[in-house]
Amino acid sequence: MTTENSLQELFHETLKDIYFAEKKILGALPKMAKAARSEDLKAAFEKHEAETEEHVARLEKVFEEIDEAARGKTCDAILGIIEEGQEVMKEFKGEPALDAGLLAAAQAVEHYEIARYGTLKTWAEELGLQQAVKLLNETLAEEKKTDETLTKLAEQDVNQHAQAA
Ligand SMILES: [Fe+2]
Repeated sequence: MTTENSLQELFHETLKDIYFAEKKILGALPKMAKAARSEDLKAAFEKHEAETEEHVARLEKVFEEIDEAARGKTCDAILGIIEEGQEVMKEFKGEPALDAGLLAAAQAVEHYEIARYGTLKTWAEELGLQQAVKLLNETLAEEKKTDETLTKLAEQDVNQHAQAA
């Protein structure tokens, strides 16, 4: 196997990983939106749900560019992160700290995605997959923007608790 071939293989495997992850996230976001106490946080989750649908569609185009079927591969990392989010929802249901917990869970998801998309984009550049670079970069930018929004909401949330104390 040449170096280039194995990088292409790694790219394909990682693409399957994030494809699986995006679909799981798509399933988790409506539950998180429903659970959120703050209207702003609810709105942020709903907006990201719409974006996530687009992320899935973009990944399907990347699969096309490398002539592979769009198929996911179980990603234990995202399953663990989502599971933790579900535990927070259960344990902190109706409590003031619920949104802080949801924000933390959502940021863990975003950071996972940012890591994956950053890597995939770099590999796509090396492999000369121009369309993939563009698509992966668009999604990467949206994940970063979402992370920033969540950071702002987390700061507001902390400030509100500080005032209420
Ligand atoms: Fe995403």
